[in-house]
Amino acid sequence: MLIHSASQVLTLAGGPQRGDRLGDLGLIEDGAVLIRGEEIAAVGPSRDLLAAYPHEPRLDASGCAVLPGFVDPHTHLVWAGDRAAEFEMKMAGARYLDILAAGGGILSTVRATRAAALEDLLAQTRARALRMFAHGTTTAEAKTGYGLETAAELKLLDALLRLDAEGPLEIAPTFLGAHAVAPEFKDNPQAYTDLLCNEMLPAVRRWWDERAGAARPLPFVDVFCETGAFDLAQSEQILTRARDLGFPLKIHADEFDNLGGASLAVRLGAASADHLVKTSAADIAALGASETVAVSLPCTPFGLAETEYTPARAILEADGILALATDCNPGTAWNESMQFVIALACRTLKLTPAQAIAAATINAAHAIRRADRIGSLEAGKQADLLVLSVPDYRQLGYRFGGNLVRLVVKRGRVYEVGAGIRPWSG
Ligand code: NIG
Ligand code: FE
Repeated sequence: MLIHSASQVLTLAGGPQRGDRLGDLGLIEDGAVLIRGEEIAAVGPSRDLLAAYPHEPRLDASGCAVLPGFVDPHTHLVWAGDRAAEFEMKMAGARYLDILAAGGGILSTVRATRAAALEDLLAQTRARALRMFAHGTTTAEAKTGYGLETAAELKLLDALLRLDAEGPLEIAPTFLGAHAVAPEFKDNPQAYTDLLCNEMLPAVRRWWDERAGAARPLPFVDVFCETGAFDLAQSEQILTRARDLGFPLKIHADEFDNLGGASLAVRLGAASADHLVKTSAADIAALGASETVAVSLPCTPFGLAETEYTPARAILEADGILALATDCNPGTAWNESMQFVIALACRTLKLTPAQAIAAATINAAHAIRRADRIGSLEAGKQADLLVLSVPDYRQLGYRFGGNLVRLVVKRGRVYEVGAGIRPWSG
């Protein structure tokens, strides 16, 4: 299939974009993309591709911008229930970490999620996955973390593998058994840390080898390194054990307090350090000199009505690799749209639309170590792309709260995003 006559094709070609290189869109005016099966076969000016492939089925993208599908590299996609009542409490003055310390917050979602049957959990999670897809996310990382005991955590990992197999959203799973101290260990966080290292992580490794097999890369292992969750030493203990078991690593760092989690991530060769609000100058310098991607989640401070955001410009000045994600979760940021993240990032992180788009595509793919297959439009890569309903990429960021995606192409299959209304027929 030849998608042609797009007013703009943003290729994002050339690999992850560090520091001040961020925002190189590889823009082709009046561009075309040739898709063969699940892959991109060629990208270039429409004139050239129409002449070279005259017999290909055609999709006319006149008046539309075309770009890689968004990659959302940090979500807590799989949970049951909601926390609307806590949102009301927070807007009336309660603080997030205080609600958690009182047994609510993450722990209230843990209760609902443990109690949910697999089918129910799948139905709730599938609905979110499909909304993400309809807003242009073609691949999302997704964390467990609302089970906090081996069987419940494996139920969540199982749900993620099933939804990935079902499609169309592609899912990169992460084990986040270290999302909070399990309620059974409320008074002894170190005992839960030891359980994670001695029993849970090895059990996940065995389960994965049997369930997913050697063909699939191991899931990431992540830790919430934070006051009231896991301190720096416990985070290091868990991540080191995970690394020794062969897992690639991620970390939640500096969401509320600076504990040094970003530098730990760099030291351990983690794929990414995420949140990064209270990040120190030393942590920023460490990130800038590393391959660890700095993943900013502007929906989180926004969702909590806080005023401080990731020091993105400082991270770029330090030559860091910046990516964007939703953090989609029931406590701080129930947002499924990377388009909204881009709009928020332009204003709160002071990014241009071009920088935010690169952070939401090629750099986001790098944050989940899939930049070799997704995140840009280049021959040989997976055919994951978006046809927008608007001709200019800057409409992303500029407009917010809606959906500018007209078509989503995933592994070469075209999905139409319904935007219309029709009279109710009962
Ligand atoms: O990334 N920080 C920890 N995890 C989530 C919140 C999860 C929740 O509140 O349920 C986050 O913000
Ligand atoms: Fe998170």
